Amino acid sequence: MSVTVRVPAKVNVQLAVGAARPDGYHDLANVFLAVGLYDEVTVTAADGLRVTCAGPDAEQVPLDRTNLAARAALLLAERYGRDADVHLHIAKDIPVAGGMAGGSADGAGALLACDALWGTGASREELLDICAELGSDVPFSLVGGAALGTGRGERLTELEVGGAFHWVFAMASRGLSTPAVFREFDRLGEGREIPEPVASRELLDALAKGDADALAATVSNDLQPAALSLFPELADTLAAGRAAGAPVSLVSGSGPTTAFLARDAEAAEGIAGALRASGTCRMVRTAAGPVPGATVV
Ligand code: C5P
Repeated sequence: MSVTVRVPAKVNVQLAVGAARPDGYHDLANVFLAVGLYDEVTVTAADGLRVTCAGPDAEQVPLDRTNLAARAALLLAERYGRDADVHLHIAKDIPVAGGMAGGSADGAGALLACDALWGTGASREELLDICAELGSDVPFSLVGGAALGTGRGERLTELEVGGAFHWVFAMASRGLSTPAVFREFDRLGEGREIPEPVASRELLDALAKGDADALAATVSNDLQPAALSLFPELADTLAAGRAAGAPVSLVSGSGPTTAFLARDAEAAEGIAGALRASGTCRMVRTAAGPVPGATVV
């Protein structure tokens, strides 16, 4: 028997970052939006734990126990006193190390799939708890839709969204390490007072109304200067998207994927075409959000 779970990518429409905490993490006001770019995780009973991966970026995915999907299976098995005897197969479409929560998606997907395969009867709260242990963005991959993440991003408040937002995503020629981007954020902020991160009222209103122009006027990402400092060529991609008419361009999460908000699906295709022709990125995709979180298919 096998179970397949489909899990979306995310873009952060607001990422407000506070000062480094004593534990090394940063308090965040993190507004997540799940978008229709998906990884699929299939779990099948096997002798022992095995991970395989297919897709354009598959060779960059670790297949050992550092893979978040493997860690999710091991954590759930441990809690329920069983062996993690499963083959986890990841059909990967979300860019690797791209700032779109691809690894987190695989963790949430494997957790939900193993839970269904093993019939553990775990509650939603228990699953969310395990997600938070796996990583700051993993709870959102389970929940999907739109949500405000506080703490290190793992404490979620679901948000109302009044319509679909159309996006273009430009994938970069290499990845960025999330810890490295946070370290660069700390370095750039040295000697400066870092304010407490708070969600923008205007931005939450724009989401609730489904108003793309209002959202474009309020998106922000405090990690963007750090991502640009480590990967200066991203400025060319951001400029190419703006030149193509995108109302706003930003780095997605810790990057290096860049995100462009469009007014509708047709405008998104136009911006995508211009970005492909610009030669400033490796691959371009369009996707709309919000979409539901991890779902058994
Ligand atoms: O929680 P997760 O393992 O995904 O975080 C990866 C890394 O990103 C952390 O080790 C930390 O360096 C950085 N991080 C942070 N503050 C957060 C979330 C992540 O500094 N709120």
